[in-house]
Amino acid sequence: MKAVVWQGTNKIGVETVPDPSILLPTDAIVRVTSTAICGSDLHLLDGYIPSMEKGDILGHEFMGEVVEVGRDVKKLKAGDRVVVPFNLACGVCDPCRRGLFSACDNSNPNHRMAEALYGAVSGGGLFGYSHLYGGYAGGQAQYVRVPFADVGPFKIESDLRDEQVLFLTDIFPTGYQAAENCGIVPGRDVVAVFGAGPVGQFAARSAQMLGAAHVIVIDRVPERLKMAAASGAQTINYEQEDVLLALREATGGRGPDHVIDAVGLEAHGHGPGALLDTAQQKLRLTFDRITALRWAIMSCAKGGTVSMPGVYGGLVNELPLGAAFAKGLTFRMGQTHTHRYLPDLLGRIEGGEIDPSFVITHRAGLSEAPDLYKTFRDKKHGCIKVVLNPWD
Ligand SMILES: NC(=O)c1ccc[n+]([C@@H]2O[C@H](COP(=O)([O-])OP(=O)(O)OC[C@H]3O[C@@H](n4cnc5c(N)ncnc54)[C@H](O)[C@@H]3O)[C@@H](O)[C@H]2O)c1
Ligand SMILES: [Zn+2]
Ligand SMILES: [Zn+2]
Repeated sequence: MKAVVWQGTNKIGVETVPDPSILLPTDAIVRVTSTAICGSDLHLLDGYIPSMEKGDILGHEFMGEVVEVGRDVKKLKAGDRVVVPFNLACGVCDPCRRGLFSACDNSNPNHRMAEALYGAVSGGGLFGYSHLYGGYAGGQAQYVRVPFADVGPFKIESDLRDEQVLFLTDIFPTGYQAAENCGIVPGRDVVAVFGAGPVGQFAARSAQMLGAAHVIVIDRVPERLKMAAASGAQTINYEQEDVLLALREATGGRGPDHVIDAVGLEAHGHGPGALLDTAQQKLRLTFDRITALRWAIMSCAKGGTVSMPGVYGGLVNELPLGAAFAKGLTFRMGQTHTHRYLPDLLGRIEGGEIDPSFVITHRAGLSEAPDLYKTFRDKKHGCIKVVLNPWD
């Protein structure tokens, strides 16, 4: 079969690789009909997530048709149409039972690697996302092996198009969890979202669905801000305005009640903190460039929430923890518990409350993936979200 593979930092290829097969009785094989490139994949392209190996199959946002199931799989059969959460969860461990699916104890066989890196236990496995996260082959491919097939894959029984349900695998639940983590008081709270990438777009719309009185989205890419504005959000271009001042002015001086960092470890920025981040990251003295997180902390109202769907990789410097402490902020973060949100969010799509396909700007076959990774990273040609058809 054909698959998108990581060949090294800044090197993505399309290769012919062996078809996956059932390895455990709880596995299924899915024929992928649609798959997407995520901002998280860019951290792999750019070499910021350790433990990738040449030939690793990428992709964690995918859906398709079940073609084969292991003998213990009860809920799925060949022919079922499914969306598959980007994280793997066993469904029976303590975190899974509590709905903390991304913290699954049993789906990451390489958790010791994570312990060595972070000095503490880490979360469950992810599709196509390094050996640190389990070394599972991803779904930017014609076929994919899906472990824990009775827990993750979610059947789509309506006639919604792939493009309307594909993002249930990651970015829609991720934006939604980020907004839910804010504990928005409907009709009162102001929510600011740093980053108008796909995750920021869904975070902003989710904050509106959860009743935020006002949503403000910050980025520097005009077409991304335009897309956010189409939802009714106020937008701030941080290259044209002093973002901290603009946020104070928009909130009567108190700052947004909650701030979502939908940027993560590759933030751009200006000022001394950003310069230090860049220099220290190059020298491997810090893992992450944290301008967005810094702005989130500095701008958030007293007693507010800083919600962080953006991915962070390790130890950071120049974090204004004193400001966060003085203001009594609450931090919420982590990989999304995708499984938890799927039924409700599918219901919202079916009910016509939202059509997630609004975010798609580019559609192509698998062979164009290497170029489109770079187009998406460099925000060329108005690229906001890429969907690939593995059979084109
Ligand atoms: N927690 C999870 O489970 C989860 C799931 C999916 C994605 N993510 C993470 O969410 C983040 C966003 O993903 P995406 O797909 O939207 O990526 P993206 O790269 O398309 O979007 C990031 C956006 O942030 C903007 N940006 C950069 N620096 C900024 C700053 N200082 N202030 C404001 N905006 C800034 C960029 O211009 C870009 O538009 C990534 O870190 C990704 O890894 C996390
Ligand atoms: Zn993703
Ligand atoms: Zn589990």
